[in-house]
Amino acid sequence: MGIIFNKDTKEFHLYNDNVSYLMKVLRNGQMGQLYFGKRVPHRDSYDYLIENRYRPVSAYVFDDEYSFTLEHLKQEYPSYGTTDFRMPALEIWQPNGSRITDFKYVSHKISKGKPALKGLPATYTESEDEADTLEILLRDELLKVEMTLSYTIFQKENAIARNARFENKGNQECQITRAMSLCLDLPDDEYEWIQFSGAWGRERHVRTRRLEQGVQSVGSARGASSHHHNPFVMLRRPTADEFQGEVLGFSLVYSGNFLAQAEVDTFKVTRMMVGIHPLGFSWCLKPGEEFQTPEAVVVYSGEGMNGMSQTFHRLYRERLARGYWRDRERPVLLNNWEATYFDFTEDKLLDIARNAKEDGVELFVLDDGWFGTRCTETSGLGDWWPNTDRLPQGIKGLSEKIEALGLKFGLWFELEMANKDSELYRAHPDWVIQTPGRHMSHGRKQYVLDFSKKEVVDYIYELVAKILRESKVSYIKWDMNRNITECFSDGYGPERQGEIFHRYILGLYDLYDRLNREFPQILFESCASGGGRFDPGLLYYAPQCWTSDDTDAVERQKIQYGTSYAYPLSSMGAHVSITPNHQANRVTPLKTRGNVAAFGAFGYELDLARLTREEREIVKEQIRFVKKYRKLIHTGTFYRLLSPFEGNFTAWMVVSEDKRQAIVGYYKILNDVNREFRRLHLKGLEENLLYHMVEEGQENGCFYGGELMNIGMVTTDNGAGEVPAGEEPCCDFWSRVVVLEARE
Ligand code: DGJ
Repeated sequence: MGIIFNKDTKEFHLYNDNVSYLMKVLRNGQMGQLYFGKRVPHRDSYDYLIENRYRPVSAYVFDDEYSFTLEHLKQEYPSYGTTDFRMPALEIWQPNGSRITDFKYVSHKISKGKPALKGLPATYTESEDEADTLEILLRDELLKVEMTLSYTIFQKENAIARNARFENKGNQECQITRAMSLCLDLPDDEYEWIQFSGAWGRERHVRTRRLEQGVQSVGSARGASSHHHNPFVMLRRPTADEFQGEVLGFSLVYSGNFLAQAEVDTFKVTRMMVGIHPLGFSWCLKPGEEFQTPEAVVVYSGEGMNGMSQTFHRLYRERLARGYWRDRERPVLLNNWEATYFDFTEDKLLDIARNAKEDGVELFVLDDGWFGTRCTETSGLGDWWPNTDRLPQGIKGLSEKIEALGLKFGLWFELEMANKDSELYRAHPDWVIQTPGRHMSHGRKQYVLDFSKKEVVDYIYELVAKILRESKVSYIKWDMNRNITECFSDGYGPERQGEIFHRYILGLYDLYDRLNREFPQILFESCASGGGRFDPGLLYYAPQCWTSDDTDAVERQKIQYGTSYAYPLSSMGAHVSITPNHQANRVTPLKTRGNVAAFGAFGYELDLARLTREEREIVKEQIRFVKKYRKLIHTGTFYRLLSPFEGNFTAWMVVSEDKRQAIVGYYKILNDVNREFRRLHLKGLEENLLYHMVEEGQENGCFYGGELMNIGMVTTDNGAGEVPAGEEPCCDFWSRVVVLEARE
């Protein structure tokens, strides 16, 4: 790994064993992009990649020629209107009304490791030799604004992390109205665009389309990364698939408004960019002030989409998530929400916890409804002290009683909100986000606290910290159940109102960071009505996230499959719930519910007392299984095998680093009758290792890795009809989990 700068040709080559990233200072001083992809041999000049050709109806930079036009050049951080007419990475509004900028190369710095981003989440290194960082300083001479483009190349991952920073060294104020985190001009448009979209209860469904000339994008302007689109997209060669071919993954390490966009121009150049959504955004840069964009990560894979996902999984699990819980086995939890909703007493909770303990659960989580006057969704948010009518000795007493049962105790918060019917709102009506003179819209009868104001964040911090200091809380579920409307803050002047969405997120990160620091051993799980803020930004503070409020085992296959493209299994909260399922009304076998949830951060969302004795035995077995294999499931190499978006089956598997163990999950949606003989081609095994196949504790033969991968694992099932004695009949929503173990 390294970063080479050739001072004669002014070219940069960032490389590791697998990828190369090439760029150069163009003749006009701006930064040009030459190549990003599979590693290429180094040469002193790649100047042949700068193709200045005459094309009618272009505009040219230099007086004496008809060739140098930014419109035809691939660039690193383009601006609009100085011969490039495409969507820019940057726009700065200036006091005279102009938005023209011209950032020219000044100098650069190469350093070992990776600097942190102030106030923002980012990937990191633990030792200097894990990565190299290049910072390129550019200046707009007229504005006297400096811009630093930062690039980190990781030694072991095919990933480049980027961000941009601005500093006003001049004496006049300007407004940044667009500042992407990453922009990459690719030489052609032979790609499929894949986005992860949906809504509450059906998050991160895979959507694919061919790139077309023009602009295609996804984004969020809701104040959160959202259920609707994820800040992650892929560009895939049409010939690539899960297992082979070129794929690029673009991910924004951010939890607020975002834009991910591809523009294909007339010459089939694809301009990819990700960053804060420009809609409603502006940042006032007064003399001496700075602005830092969030980080974006681009991953190259020559080994299909699984290869790309595996890079993101390692990087985000090991070098984005942090702290005490990063590498620890996650506790099997039971959350009371679907068991009781708001209708509970302390005795009821203790009963649920006792049953949970009996079956092997390790952590009991008390969800919404324990504080202030919160007995329905219309009141209490903001009043973070226990409701002693329900919990006579408060959270302190309850947490001690739970610990006395031999369980850890976890607690739900929704710290960013207030109900109008709350002590907080009555005392500080000006602390919620609202626009003067305008109607204030609600969501779930709640209002968003103005986290752009430090005093609001400080107040909430003290309330939460008090509970955590005096009680035995080992886990926090951090919920967020509405988006921001009428965005405005009376804490800032008119010139700063475009900053509020971003300042809100900075306030959120600050609160998370302070709580992480004071309570380093608390496991945080983020949540936003389920998966409404499942993004890399929050993984930095909370290593797991409640993937979706939809716990139906069929729906979850799609949600977890889609989520797995960017996010590791250790980050996906996945629970077994009661049937008929509360979201889909569907009845699925308890076994299948467990088999789906096992490929995530596992838990239960029900009162176990409502199960039959036989079902309780199944639960005990599920928990034994998860405890035995969770480490492998969370840290192994994950392969998607069959997509629920493409047929009646889902299959995925994890393989241990030494390839001696693997676990396969195989799911059939609807039963079918008298159908073909089936085989599932496994991946990632050692060809010549003999694997024992174990299913529900029963040995099912021995097979070489080469057989399982090339011939396939036989998955022919007992579709409806006569079933051989001793074998299980197949049914709708049927599933298998197979453990493969190489033994001496
Ligand atoms: C939405 C969450 O996603 C649920 O799991 C639950 O915590 C409720 N909020 C509580 O209000």
